Amino acid sequence: MDVPTGAVPKGAAPARAAPAGVALTKAEQARALLAQGLARHNAGDLAAAEALYRRALRLSPGDPNALNLLGVAARQRGDLAEAVRLTGEALQTRPDSPVFLAAHGGALAEAGQAERAVPVLRRAVALRPADALSQRNLGQALLVLGDAASAVSPLRTAASLMPEPENHLALAYGLREAGDAAGAAAAARAALAGAPDAVAAQARFLLAALGTEAAPDRAPASYVRELFDRYAPRFDAHLQGTLNYRTPEALAAALRAAGIAAEGAATVLDLGCGTGLSGAALRPFAARLEGLDLSPGMLREAARAGHYDALHEADLLGFLPAHPGAFTIVAAVDVLNYLGDLTTAFRGMATALQPGGVAAFSLEVGEEAPYALGEGMRFRHHPTQALALLASAGFQLLLREDTVLRQEKGRDVAGLILVARR
Ligand SMILES: C[S@@+](CC[C@H](N)C(=O)[O-])C[C@H]1O[C@@H](n2cnc3c(N)ncnc32)[C@H](O)[C@@H]1O
Repeated sequence: MDVPTGAVPKGAAPARAAPAGVALTKAEQARALLAQGLARHNAGDLAAAEALYRRALRLSPGDPNALNLLGVAARQRGDLAEAVRLTGEALQTRPDSPVFLAAHGGALAEAGQAERAVPVLRRAVALRPADALSQRNLGQALLVLGDAASAVSPLRTAASLMPEPENHLALAYGLREAGDAAGAAAAARAALAGAPDAVAAQARFLLAALGTEAAPDRAPASYVRELFDRYAPRFDAHLQGTLNYRTPEALAAALRAAGIAAEGAATVLDLGCGTGLSGAALRPFAARLEGLDLSPGMLREAARAGHYDALHEADLLGFLPAHPGAFTIVAAVDVLNYLGDLTTAFRGMATALQPGGVAAFSLEVGEEAPYALGEGMRFRHHPTQALALLASAGFQLLLREDTVLRQEKGRDVAGLILVARR
């Protein structure tokens, strides 16, 4: 948690009653409220903390510490626009405060504004080089901008200042992006020591992508969630602009070509709906359109896009078997490449579909059977094996289209779009 305890002014000790007959000034009362708020904040009670910060702000309008702490709380609640606004206001009051620079830079980075975050975080680490979190945030923002060479140094500093599994893992990702596979593997191994399960699973997944461990049967849910939470604010622009992503439209065209009428009568489930690009393409088929995703950040964007009648934060492997016969179309656009073994997903789709219902999805294809973990840390499936699994889950193939799904590092990503009837 990025609670900048240092932001609270000195003297803001837990509120004490004033000695009898001594009235506290408004500024003193505000400081006391901030201290109480921070105690609630550190105890995890965000709502109570925010209420106390707001009371402090009413007593001391424009108080930069109150604004900053409200911004930090907004960020933790997932209201990134508000976090950027509030931490930015605090920073305007004290442009050289390393605490406010760190909070504002962190909020900008999380809101997908890496270009604006980098100079702010650079100033934060110049003023407070021992702030491991700002060093890590700077490294990760540089990675988002594709500047892996510059990202490695702050990521390395973060890992040496605070040698925790999360920081070793962040360094491992950075080194991998920078092309230092051996360094990345060493950092991933360091991340394994004493790591919580989610971090250890990610470190092992990275080692598998580096070819030093066998590929697991899926990408860890925590990896997918963190990746897409970070990616969410810039996903649409990046995919549609830079990566020339057209799979949602191609999948909708494949459904029509397979004889599925886009007449708005189906009950459709969009697995791994992301920000809703696939929802926009599926909407014409649907009387009711539901989306599900592992990433709360992506789901927030999907809610804003407004295509869905319902959204679920869930893992598709758990959701599908729990909703027998609930849908007439189940779609997965650019999603099943986060799973290696497709057996459970195909069986789940069959369960969640009514008899005669239709599954439509894309896969990245590769030569290795049954699947392999590719460079981009996504799985590629062997078409013959995938088709055999689909048949054994009870599906009859309606349409197969071999296609280019998008670009990656300037190269075409080869894929398949399959439409099959239960
Ligand atoms: C590349 S995006 C595609 C989003 C959307 N379908 C589109 O076409 O724009 C992949 C999405 O699948 C989600 N995802 C991956 N594995 C998942 C799983 N096991 N359960 C639910 N969502 C998953 C990710 O969180 C991410 O939002």
